[in-house]
Amino acid sequence: MVLFERAPAKINLSLDILGKRDDGYHEVEMIMTTIDLSDRIELHPLDQDRIDVSLESRYVPNDERNLAFKAAQIFKTMYNIEKGVHIKIEKSIPVSAGLGGGSSDAAAVLRGLNRLWSMNIPTEELAALGAHIGSDVPFCVHNSTAIAKGRGERIEKLPSPPSCWVILAKPNIGVSTRTIFQRFDMSCITHPSTSEIISALEEKNFIKLCNNLGNVLESVTIKLHPEVQQIKDRMKYAGSAGVLMSGSGPTIYGLVQHENKARRIYNGLRGFCEEVYIVRILG
Ligand code: C5P
Repeated sequence: MVLFERAPAKINLSLDILGKRDDGYHEVEMIMTTIDLSDRIELHPLDQDRIDVSLESRYVPNDERNLAFKAAQIFKTMYNIEKGVHIKIEKSIPVSAGLGGGSSDAAAVLRGLNRLWSMNIPTEELAALGAHIGSDVPFCVHNSTAIAKGRGERIEKLPSPPSCWVILAKPNIGVSTRTIFQRFDMSCITHPSTSEIISALEEKNFIKLCNNLGNVLESVTIKLHPEVQQIKDRMKYAGSAGVLMSGSGPTIYGLVQHENKARRIYNGLRGFCEEVYIVRILG
């Protein structure tokens, strides 16, 4: 039996850093939601006890460095499973973009193997396992709008955003999350208002949501890559109601309520930026 899992990208509605931890990570508060730009994961059972990964991408390795491989490895070790799996990944989410593609692939493998091998492991436990793979994996295991705290592993569900369109524009650069976090200056004083975003979600208030989007890593990435600011300005100028960089970047997204306007902004940005997408929020 072959099993399919969708691995959706995420965007940050907020990203705040509260402090630096002794383990080298940062204490964060991030509100994230999922969008309908997804990788597709196929899980094929193997007779032999091994993990194979195949994908067509110049940027992603197909060996143990791949987060999907790590997910299968950790799942097998944790539950003493002496079976094999071939993981086929069809990538649609841009790599090193701030959209959580690798984390979402890993989370989809955890969810998928849980089904493939009929393990019935609760989502909470799968998410805790995911934290060993990467800080965004627990959110991706839950796969719906939530606030992530701690290193990113403490997940509390939130209502999904009001219905809207999302235009994504990724400049042709890859960003290392590690580098961006390392360059963050703790004296940064403009923090997003997490509580206002939560109340905007609860009220399904689109304008309030747009007015409170915030990401403390934005200025760090922009300092290294000024073209991110240019895309942000374009996205705003074109009429997006809310504009923000997702994660450590470099992808900028804009939120718009009406399809016609979203398509106009999308078409305008295509002449300016190589990778542009128009998607909806999954929630
Ligand atoms: O957990 P993950 O491997 O995805 O994180 C990549 C890098 O981002 C870490 O090595 C760390 O430098 C940084 N990071 C951080 N604080 C977090 C999450 C990530 O400093 N909460």
